[in-house]
Amino acid sequence: MENELAELILTFNQFLEKIRFVSSGTEAVMSAIRLARAYTGRNKILKFEGCYHGHSDSLLVKAGSGLVTFGNTSSAGVPESFVNETIVVDLNNREAVEQAFETFKNQIACVIIEPVPANNGLLLQDKEFLLFLRDICTQNGTLLLFDEVISGFRLCFCGAAGYYSIKPDIVTYGKIIGGGLPVGAYGASKEIMSRVSPDGPMYQAGTLSGNPVAMAAGIAQLTACLRPGFYDELAEKTNYLIERIKHLASQSTIKFKIFSIGSIFWIAFTQDNTIKSAAAIDPDSMKYFRKLHAFLLGRGIYLGPSGYEVGFVSEAHTYEQLDLTATAFADGLMSLNNDDI
Ligand SMILES: Cc1ncc(COP(=O)(O)O)c(C=O)c1O
Repeated sequence: MENELAELILTFNQFLEKIRFVSSGTEAVMSAIRLARAYTGRNKILKFEGCYHGHSDSLLVKAGSGLVTFGNTSSAGVPESFVNETIVVDLNNREAVEQAFETFKNQIACVIIEPVPANNGLLLQDKEFLLFLRDICTQNGTLLLFDEVISGFRLCFCGAAGYYSIKPDIVTYGKIIGGGLPVGAYGASKEIMSRVSPDGPMYQAGTLSGNPVAMAAGIAQLTACLRPGFYDELAEKTNYLIERIKHLASQSTIKFKIFSIGSIFWIAFTQDNTIKSAAAIDPDSMKYFRKLHAFLLGRGIYLGPSGYEVGFVSEAHTYEQLDLTATAFADGLMSLNNDDI
């Protein structure tokens, strides 16, 4: 079944030649980083503030105050020495990336990014920024790692790589790939994957990796995703929900924006037309979200419990449910006003 799921993915994905299954997104990213280090013989990795890549030690890192920083640990129990190999810069900041490449010349194994950053609000990047990363990685012998644990099989079957037509060197998947059961995966070209044991010297294995129950769920899920029109319908539903909310809440006195891509959406209490970095989110705006969240719970609608979390529309949602949701959202937004926050 592992082979069946792999074949299903590789047949329809022009960016990958080989894939390895693990049991979670965290494990996928952790292994992919080891692979990037094994392939390049370099130690440092560059990540972006506001992107989440699971809970392995070297990725539980937040930026310091400079343009380019070694991260500070963002969790107890992670030694400083581990995060010293992780460089953190702001999203959408070319200058910082260039400076990091200059400061750490020939030391960066990979640049890891959520191509659709969706763990700290929805910080949609310009395609040009992603192309810039592609170029600077190629020029410096650094691998570009797209963490598609959220965007994979969600924006389209080939994830953000397919959506933007940008070829990463390594891709990681999770969530959808297991149809609700614990599955993660990392994939790359044959050449890069040849470093993984037993072909190559990089060790990675797992008792539960590729187990048949999880593989069966993944096969069922991805087969459903391959149905013609699946992604168009999902995007249509999402647009419908957003437009309904905007229409019904057009009289709201509180300024809000709903950012979206494919079936992902995020409500932000801002006047800005774009938010591209974690620093651009006003923490004070979360007070509105807290009220909205409580209001929606009262109406039987359970949003992710943080204003930094995105929402997802599912193929299973009906238009009736979307209408109900939009009405409740709009009522909630209209009930917010400055006096009682
Ligand atoms: C982009 C991204 N990478 C990695 C992970 C970690 O995946 P998991 O929770 O399956 O370990 C997540 C989880 O939300 C994620 O969103």
